[in-house]
Amino acid sequence: MEWGMQNRLNRLIQKDGKALFLPIDHGYFQGPTHCLEKPAETIKPIVQYADALMLTRGVLRNCIDPTIEKPYVMRVSGAVSVVGEDLANESRVTSIEEIIRLNASAVSMSVFVGSKYENKSLTNLSELVDECEKYGVPVMAVCAVGKELEKREARYLALAARIAAEIGARVVKTYYCKEHFEKIIDGCPVPVVIAGGPKTETQREVFDFVYDGMQKGAVGVNLGRNIWQTPYPVASIRAIRAIIHEGFTTKEAEDFYNQIIAGKT
Ligand code: R5P
Repeated sequence: MEWGMQNRLNRLIQKDGKALFLPIDHGYFQGPTHCLEKPAETIKPIVQYADALMLTRGVLRNCIDPTIEKPYVMRVSGAVSVVGEDLANESRVTSIEEIIRLNASAVSMSVFVGSKYENKSLTNLSELVDECEKYGVPVMAVCAVGKELEKREARYLALAARIAAEIGARVVKTYYCKEHFEKIIDGCPVPVVIAGGPKTETQREVFDFVYDGMQKGAVGVNLGRNIWQTPYPVASIRAIRAIIHEGFTTKEAEDFYNQIIAGKT
């Protein structure tokens, strides 16, 4: 692998082969998302526990101190909104010059397999990969399900993940599914990270799916709302980090989480 590409990937996926990405890109289609109204304040107590951020260039420029040492993944697809006609109708919104100028360690773009805009989003991905590969910038494909959350089952997710990898994504982000998550991993030749999705009722549910996903071969997570929308974001990210990087079980993570809340660690 070319030096620049390898170096950027190494900044994101740590020496143990695992990664915790903290996404704060939600405003790109849903505006001032709950608990993310002021991104700089949201990340202040938790960013130290993340391996990388994921965000748009606008939030990066306006809310992130340029002396930050964290690498980041720049979201470069968008131009849709929750009040618009179809979330799948995304376009590429950031040039390669901006990606390089702003020193992104990777870029991310959503793909909408099975949607009316399947071909458009996959063509966008292939063009992005062609351009980014020239400069050694890894592309992370975000396998999106739009509003149809029922698509979160292994057969669909494995299909989308494989197609994204075939087009050239260096990393694939997919949702977790309880049944046969390993099928997604087995069929995808590049590292897979798990997206968080809407906030769960209990913290335990998050620890469960992160643990199970890691056991089945994911390299990590790209998990936002289930960290920064929870009552205890620091405890939440530290416990998730322990599952990813220290091999904690769900029970160990939950105990650790409770200890942090109780101020015992
Ligand atoms: C969509 O809003 C973004 O691509 C997020 O980065 C992604 O959904 C992961 O964030 P969450 O864990 O909040 O779903």
